[in-house]
Amino acid sequence: MHTTVGIIGGGPAGLLLARLLHNAGVGSVVLERRDRAYVEQRQRAGILEQATVDALREAGAGERLDREGMVHDGIELRFGRRSHRIDFPALTGGRSVMVYAQTEVVKDLIALQLSEGGPLLFGAEVTGIDGADTGSPVVRYLHEGRAETLTCDYVVGCDGFHGVARDAVPASCRTTYERTYPYSWLGVLAEAPPVYDELVYAHSERGFALASMRSPSVSRLYLQVPNGTDPGDWSDARVWDELDARFATDADPGWKLERGPITSKSVLPMRSHVTEPMRHGRVFLAGDAAHIVPPTGAKGLNLAAADVIVLARALAVRQETGSTGLLDSYSDTCLRRVWRAEHFSSFMTTTLHTDPAQSAFETRLQLAQLDRVATSAHAAAELAENYTGLPLPR
Ligand code: APR
Ligand code: PHB
Repeated sequence: MHTTVGIIGGGPAGLLLARLLHNAGVGSVVLERRDRAYVEQRQRAGILEQATVDALREAGAGERLDREGMVHDGIELRFGRRSHRIDFPALTGGRSVMVYAQTEVVKDLIALQLSEGGPLLFGAEVTGIDGADTGSPVVRYLHEGRAETLTCDYVVGCDGFHGVARDAVPASCRTTYERTYPYSWLGVLAEAPPVYDELVYAHSERGFALASMRSPSVSRLYLQVPNGTDPGDWSDARVWDELDARFATDADPGWKLERGPITSKSVLPMRSHVTEPMRHGRVFLAGDAAHIVPPTGAKGLNLAAADVIVLARALAVRQETGSTGLLDSYSDTCLRRVWRAEHFSSFMTTTLHTDPAQSAFETRLQLAQLDRVATSAHAAAELAENYTGLPLPR
């Protein structure tokens, strides 16, 4: 098989790229290791920046999003048993975010691609890429028990953190930057209406907690837990009691979450990671394949979308005009924005979580920083601008 752009991975990055290329008249094939049901039920984050929403609409995947997505004009920060609202439109000149689960984005993109796009193969596991720095790289993959090859003009690795595409950049040409955190998140999905209108991010002496939502009847909740935690050690009652304790404020001591059946519990590690450059020869990396952020800033999906928006435009210009200028600047263009998001995600994470080794002095510094956000329009605007998303590179 031959295609213009071979896309490895059918997560949000690979699927959105395939749609944007389709609309620009550029051919592609998506190879996804897992089956469709697995990809569609994988629980991930759920905050979309305006630019991500716009790209999904442009890709033709805006219909259900516009019906079911919930526009959020702010978040609530809780710390020192007090509560403070960050008003996004007031602080950013009108910007807001949308709450719409990544799993739903993926379902919408898969349905579109299967109905009117290029090939999307499930159960197609890529094992390697040959000839990255030649004019026609070859993707090797296994499909239905057979070894196959896909010859491409360009290959894009959208295969996430555990993918194989990163290895196409020779170790001598690539630099990795990484930080791991001394805590994880226990994430639960509950059939319980959120009693809060907006997301609540809580710093507490018991550790971080986050209240998010999936719909008016489903809550998505997170608790900071030690690395290596077994979700089986957390009974439903323990989860709810701990959430209530971490969200407690003096002004409203009776504030309690509404409880309901917990339908899933999982533990997520926290990591920051960047691989540079995001390109070698005719192989490009996009999304989690190139960079990971801890989820506290809600940036993972949005960074993945930004990468493929830049790349789709560059590949379209290449096809239309023959110019490779935008492809040549892809890695530098994306990395500048990636590092901004890395900084913000790390800032949110280290400001809101309690490192088990941190001193009382460091806790005071966190509270002083949060107090600054609550009392200075400049500090609040800095948070709001980053959270709602910085402009896409032109
Ligand atoms: N061959 C084919 N597909 C592969 C291979 C392989 N060797 N390795 C991994 N994949 C697939 C995975 O099964 C997954 O469906 O690549 C896809 C990568 O998807 P994601 O991990 O969702 O990464 P990405 O599309 O970059 O989206 C980033 O996902 O992890 C979150 O927080 C992150 O929200 C962000 C988003
Ligand atoms: C989510 O809804 O899953 C979510 C929201 C905000 C975050 C992380 C996750 O920062």
